[in-house]
Order: sequence, then structure tokens, then C-alpha cells
Amino acid sequence: MSEQTPVMEKRPRALSCIQPTGIPTLGNYLGALRNWTQLQDEMECAFAVADLHAITVRQEPAAFRKQIYETFALLLALGLDPEKNVVFVQSQVPAHSELMWLLSSCTAFGELSRMTQFKDKSQKHADNINLGLFGYPTLMAADILLYQADYVPVGADQKQHVELTRTLGERFNGLYGETFKIPEPYIMKACARVRSLQEPTKKMSKSDENVNSFISLQDDEATILRKFKRAVTDSEACVRYAEGKDGICNLMEIYAAVTGKDFAAIEAEFAGKGYGDFKAAVGEAVAAELKPIQERLKTYIADKGELERLMKQGADKAAYVAERTLKKAKKKMGFVQV
Ligand code: TRP
Repeated sequence: MSEQTPVMEKRPRALSCIQPTGIPTLGNYLGALRNWTQLQDEMECAFAVADLHAITVRQEPAAFRKQIYETFALLLALGLDPEKNVVFVQSQVPAHSELMWLLSSCTAFGELSRMTQFKDKSQKHADNINLGLFGYPTLMAADILLYQADYVPVGADQKQHVELTRTLGERFNGLYGETFKIPEPYIMKACARVRSLQEPTKKMSKSDENVNSFISLQDDEATILRKFKRAVTDSEACVRYAEGKDGICNLMEIYAAVTGKDFAAIEAEFAGKGYGDFKAAVGEAVAAELKPIQERLKTYIADKGELERLMKQGADKAAYVAERTLKKAKKKMGFVQV
């Protein structure tokens, strides 16, 4: 094992990426992003802004550029330490695109056709079902395999892509000899699966037309309180975790995730109280949790020079690992290196 691991550290390695497609929601935060900051203490971590993935749907260049800066700033604002981790922008490390091409010859048409995200997105963007959208999982496999990652912290919706990554890594290793570490998805148990505040059986999504259905990480306190106040509940007027109470269960999960309290403690806290009190408490707890992140985000966004310096530093660190893996893969495949 150790001879194929390019860097000397013994801690397990994790890689995850986020697309620069607008400021994420509370759902993204509690479902994944917050856990990244915990992971950085346990593992050797790389976190990237997956800008190459984002162009699989049409992006307007000026807005896209702004979102790349903002998403990178967000990673830092979350508390991901750029000294301790590799925090970078995917397109600034060319090895990603190159390994994708190499892996594309190991990816079957049928495998890509079965990806649920491809099916969903090609329905949503029926006028632009492009090669990139189809090959997207192969690029994601390249991201992961380049870093010889042990774990890939992702939400459940990305599990299928990590499974494909394993398949491609194993196939490549089988064809050309041991090259890639085979990663495992790292689905964190403790994380909440936050649903829409308006239709609590649906996942919370930033692309929802109804802005009251999601909390953006950029919403200010008043907005957060208002959105929770309007959240859909039920007519029982009793805060308890039970079947048929999707709205209240969702709010309880959010409150539990933010405060660390369990459901029994939450039920006791709000026994005899109405939904109004409960919703206000959830809103306040969420606003307090997000406030320091929002302040740091503002500071970073205001300093483009610093962001660019940190991007460069991150890209250099990432390229060091990625290029070693890429070279190895090319050599195994028979490419001539001079
Ligand atoms: N596809 C992921 C998403 O949409 C983003 C992503 C790209 C990713 N490359 C990755 C996640 C590598 C984990 C590892 O959320």
C-alpha cells in the first residue's frame, strides 16, 4: 500500500469538492460542509471548488468568475485552514482534466447512462445535453483518484458517483497495474438531511423557485427568522418527532444539528409551548450558527488579492500530489515521458 501513496503522511486522506453554483443552503451546510471542518482534524484533507464540473450546465462567464471567488472564500470562511489542508480551485490544477481523458477510455457508455444525476440533469437541461454532462462522473473520479483519497465525504446523492469511481479505479488497476487507491464514500451519520421549509418531503434546494423554502448561508438574521416563522408545520401544535409531521421533524432535525440536543430534550424544552416559540428558537439558533461564517465570508470576499494568493498556494500544493499520480498513470498506460 505505502509504496503507491505519493506523500509521506500516515493519516487517511479525504477529498471533497463543491460546485461554484451560488451560495449554498443550510441543507448543504448541515448535510456536508460543516462536517468538513471536523474532518480536517482527523484526516489529511483536500477541498476543491469544482469549477470544471459547473460548466456542464451553461454558465455566464462574469457571474461564474464571481461564484468561483465566492465559493473559495466560503471554504475558508467555514474554517477550513489553508495551511493544514489543501484548499484549491479544480481548474487551476490541469491534471484533473488530463486524467479525466485517460479515465474516459475506461468508462463504459452504459455506466454513465445509468447515473441518476445525469438522468435528472438531462431532463432539466434538455436543450443542452452535452458530452461534459455525460462524462461528469469520470471527471469526478479523476478528482478523487488523483489524490489517492481513502475517503470521499459526500452527501447521499453523490454516492453513486463514488461507486463509479471505485469501479474505474479498480478497472484501471486491473488493466495497467496498481496505480490508484480505491476510495470509500464517507457518509457522515451525524449530519442532518435538511428538507424544504415549504414542502418538507422534498430536499432543501437553492434552485427552488420559492425562496422561503430554503435558507441561504448568506441570509441575514431577519430573513432567517422570517423564513422559519413561515415554515410549513401541522395542526397538532405539539413539538414531537413522529410520522406524518414532516415539517416539525425537519425543524427538529435542524435544531438538533445546530444545538447538539437530542429529540427527547427538544420535546421536553417545548412541551406545552406552541410552534411559534419553537420556530423562533430554531431561527435564532441557525442565525447564531451562521453569523461568524458570514462575517468571515464578507472579509474574504472583500480581499481578492488574498484570495488569489491562497488559490495559488492551494493549486501548487494540489498539483504536487496530482501530477505524481498522473505521471504514474500515464507511464502505466504506456505513454512516453520525456
Ligand atoms: N459532484 C459533486 C457535487 O455536485 C462535486 C464534486 C466534484 C465532488 N468532484 C468531486 C465531490 C470529488 C467529491 C469528490 O456535489
